[in-house]
Amino acid sequence: MSDMLLFSPMTIRGVTLKNRIVVPPMHQYSAEKGFPTDWHLMNAGKFAAGGAGLVIVESTKVERRGCGTIGDLGIWDDKFIAPLSRVAGFIKQQNAVAGIQLGHSGRKARASRPWEGDRPLERSAEIEDWDAWTPVAPSAIAHSERWPVPRALETQEVKDLVAAWGQAARRAHEAGFDVLELHGAHGYLVHEFLSERSNQRSDQYGGSEANRMRFLIEVTEAVRAHWPDHKPLFVRLSVEDNAGWGPEQSARLASILKAKGVDVIDCSSGGISEMAPILGKEIKYNYQVPLAEYVRAHADIMTMAVA
Ligand SMILES: Cc1cc2nc3c(=O)[nH]c(=O)nc-3n(C[C@H](O)[C@H](O)[C@H](O)COP(=O)(O)O)c2cc1C
Repeated sequence: MSDMLLFSPMTIRGVTLKNRIVVPPMHQYSAEKGFPTDWHLMNAGKFAAGGAGLVIVESTKVERRGCGTIGDLGIWDDKFIAPLSRVAGFIKQQNAVAGIQLGHSGRKARASRPWEGDRPLERSAEIEDWDAWTPVAPSAIAHSERWPVPRALETQEVKDLVAAWGQAARRAHEAGFDVLELHGAHGYLVHEFLSERSNQRSDQYGGSEANRMRFLIEVTEAVRAHWPDHKPLFVRLSVEDNAGWGPEQSARLASILKAKGVDVIDCSSGGISEMAPILGKEIKYNYQVPLAEYVRAHADIMTMAVA
C-alpha cells in the first residue's frame, strides 16, 4: 500500500473515505424527465468500481425550473428517491462513498446540451411544460446578450426555494447518499445571488455582501435541518469569478458556512460571465489548487479542488 496522502483514508463526521480521490459532479445529460437511467448507474458505477473514495453524482435539480437541459437529473419530488437509491446503492456496493450534488441552474436554465450549441432552447412541442420551465433568477438580468432575461424571484419564492433545497437534502438522505454537495458555483442560481452583477435585489436577499450571502446561508440551514449530523456537507464555490467575487469574499463566506455545519469547500472558479478567470493565463495542472489553499488558510476549513 502506498504511503501517499492521496491513498490514505480520511474520516469526515461519521463517514470514512478509503482514499482522497473524489470524482467531481459531472452532468451526463442523460436523465429522462429527471429520472436516472442505466447510463447513470454505469457512469457512477464505473468510477466507484475503479477505486475512487468518493463519487459525487452530477448536479441534481431541487425544482423543475432549475433544470439546465432536458437531460438533467431531478430530486424535486419523492418519486425520485427510489430510482436514485439504485445509483447510490451500486456505488456503495463497490466500497466507495456515494455523494450527490444539489443544484439549480437559475438564469442559465432551459438550455441545449453542450454538443447542441450551449445556447438557450427555443419553444418546441417536444417540451410539454415549456412555461413551467421559465428561467428564474435573483434579478431580471440576462447571463449575456445570447441568453433570455430571466424572471426575478418574488421574496416569498426565494423562501420557498430555501425550503425546496431542504426537502431535496431529505430525499438524498433517504436515497442512501452519504455525502451532499450544494452547487454554489459556475454562475448558477446560488452564485447568481452572491454576485453583484446578477443580484440587484432591494429586499433582504440583495444589496450588501451579507444580504447576497443570505440565500446560501438559509439554504445551508434548511439542508442541515434535514441532512443527518453524521453525514458530511460540502459546498462548491467559484472562489474567483472575475466579476467582483474573489478569494476574500469566498473565505468570509466559508467561515460563516463552517459555523452552519459545512465541512468542505469544493473550490472551483468562473461561470458568472462569459470570461473564464484563467483567461490570459496559461492553464496549468492544479490551476484551482491555490484557490483551495487560500480558503483553507483564511477560513480554517477543509477544501478540495479539481486538479
Ligand atoms: C461534462 C461535464 C459536466 C459537468 N457537470 C458539472 C456538474 O454537474 N456540477 C459541477 O459542479 N461541475 C460540473 N462540471 C465541472 C467538473 O466537476 C470539474 O470541476 C471541471 O471539469 C474542472 O475539471 P477539469 O479542469 O479537469 O475539466 C462538469 C464538467 C464536465 C466536463
